[in-house]
This record gives sequence, structure tokens and C-alpha cells, in this order.
Amino acid sequence: MSVKVTYIASNGATRSLDLKEGVSVMEAALDNGVPEIESDCGGVCTCAACHVYVDPEWLALLPPMTKAETGLLGLLETRRPNSRLSCQIKANAALDGLIVRTVDPAIDG
Ligand code: FES
Repeated sequence: MSVKVTYIASNGATRSLDLKEGVSVMEAALDNGVPEIESDCGGVCTCAACHVYVDPEWLALLPPMTKAETGLLGLLETRRPNSRLSCQIKANAALDGLIVRTVDPAIDG
């Protein structure tokens, strides 16, 4: 089954993708040219370039944050309570319909 994820850019542009289970929200974005999601570390949680804001109604369904993710997010001035690193969010059936908002890289970091 595929997992629908919608990305909303900082300018409001919306893009929906169907992810295979196990693929991260970051990987799918890069593979499909979704703007404002980047990766300097390849998804091993050391760069924070894949920062997104998760629609609050989905937050409880995400895996808990690792210390590494919490630490990286703590370095961002743009962090909000619903911030996550999209490389740490892997598609699964429970996340079908997930909505994330991307952050303009010019202000992130
Ligand atoms: S891609 Fe580097 S922390 Fe997510």
C-alpha cells in the first residue's frame, strides 16, 4: 500500500506524493523535487536540513524523537513545538494522509 503525504511549502504551494512504506518523508521529497527539503547527511540525523512542521493532528502518530533529533532541532531558531526532521519519519499505514509544512531554507538553520 502507498502512504499519501502532502507537503505544503512556505509560499503555500501544495504537493502530494504516494510513498512506499518504509520510505522517509525526506527521501520521497528529494526523489520528487519537493522544494525546501534538503539533506546534507543522507538521512542519518546529523544535519537538520530536512526540518518540517508536522500538522499537529499527526504528531502523536510519529515515532518518539531520538536524542540526536531533539538535539539538532534545538539548534534551529525556527523550531516550533511541531518541528520534526523528515528523515526520521518513515511512511507507514498509520500515516496515510500526513501533512507537513516545509521551511524556507533561507531562514532555516
Ligand atoms: S537529512 Fe540530515 S537530519 Fe534529516
